Amino acid sequence: MLELGEINVFGTGAGPWHLTDRVMWLIMGCSSLMGDRRILEALEVREHQVRLPLAYGDQLGPAIEGAPKPLGILVSGDVGLFSLAQRVCGLFPHRVRLFPNVSSLQLMASRLKRSWANVPVISVHGRPPLEALELRRFLWGRPEGAVLLGRPQDVRETLLRLGELVRPDVTGHLGWDLGTPREQVFHGGLDQLAHLPYTGNLSILWLSAGPQGFFGEQSLSCLPPGPMDDSAFQRLQRVPMTKSPVRGLVTGLLQPLWGARILEVGTGTGALTCELARQAGPGVVVSIERDPEAMELARGNLERLGLALGVHLVGGSAPLDLRGTFDRIVIGGHGGALEDVIRWARDLLVPGGRVLVPCVLARSGPRALQALEEADLKCGMTRLFPTWGRPLGGDWMAEGMNPVDLVWGDLT
Ligand SMILES: C[S@@+](CC[C@H](N)C(=O)[O-])C[C@H]1O[C@@H](n2cnc3c(N)ncnc32)[C@H](O)[C@@H]1O
Repeated sequence: MLELGEINVFGTGAGPWHLTDRVMWLIMGCSSLMGDRRILEALEVREHQVRLPLAYGDQLGPAIEGAPKPLGILVSGDVGLFSLAQRVCGLFPHRVRLFPNVSSLQLMASRLKRSWANVPVISVHGRPPLEALELRRFLWGRPEGAVLLGRPQDVRETLLRLGELVRPDVTGHLGWDLGTPREQVFHGGLDQLAHLPYTGNLSILWLSAGPQGFFGEQSLSCLPPGPMDDSAFQRLQRVPMTKSPVRGLVTGLLQPLWGARILEVGTGTGALTCELARQAGPGVVVSIERDPEAMELARGNLERLGLALGVHLVGGSAPLDLRGTFDRIVIGGHGGALEDVIRWARDLLVPGGRVLVPCVLARSGPRALQALEEADLKCGMTRLFPTWGRPLGGDWMAEGMNPVDLVWGDLT
């Protein structure tokens, strides 16, 4: 039943003119109203009704407590969609009543004549820029998604950033001022939309993936099962490559990888990077390589196999300054500074994470084990004598490769 509680949060949709007479009557029945100046000014003045600016941060609770009751808090859009309503409910769980309204998501869906059921929605309003991992987890495998954009002056930068993180055939509908007389909806590629001169308020972007998905995920199933064959990678004679059976065991020891944030030191040819990116799916791989020629070779391999969007290649020599933390770390190259790289990697690992060091030199395995133990990680190792079969004279011959020690440490 529609009746006022002590603290009431009203969604005002695109503006107060969208409210039903009944909800407007309830708003006018409040002793005090709190909201953005833009929304408050659009309401008729009522004698003895106190009008208060919206309070932010730590001020919100005391401002609500101190306001005459019943209090009406006016939020734009709908109370269920990234609005202040959830915070107010958290602060006063048993004293709040919510009154919903039509959001820009619903308005946009109706303009495009599409359903918003099963369309993931994310808001970038008043928060740090979208990270690749967040966007990939949000849109992976979906045909559509909606982004509630922030301040008009930030929209272009957000569109350009999105354009770097998804495939170039991704398109979008960009809507401004939906539900108002100034309403505009534009369609195009993200770069085209970013360069539109039009601006307004409460913008929303409705994204549509191309046939291969937002990140190329629809074509990943075309890759053969198991670790990719060594012949899948272009090579340069002087750039090393981790061979197929070793890649298979390395990625096995790092499971689960799906959705993980992974760091690799020593991209080399990019063969392990490709395998990690494929198995991480919506996750991301950050891979560091000190040799620029190797990095370009790896970039080419990643692009050819459709895996480049999930990998951020960093040129330089580890240890180096890096933002964020990782679920999995592989140290495939260290240039002799093994202990330093392991100590640095440990500080980048999340609890429950694993750092793994494939070692081809006889002394590297024991050194890695000692450094991992000294870094207070729970260690394990296996020694692999890999072979790979090839057809020979109507039969198959298993060809041996150099042994490899795989040494790891877990942060418990
Ligand atoms: C064995 S290869 C890696 C092969 C790679 N896993 C693959 O599958 O192609 C080691 C790589 O680590 C790089 N490297 C060595 N020390 C490094 C460091 N401190 N930081 C970044 N890269 C390094 C080398 O240039 C080399 O390309």
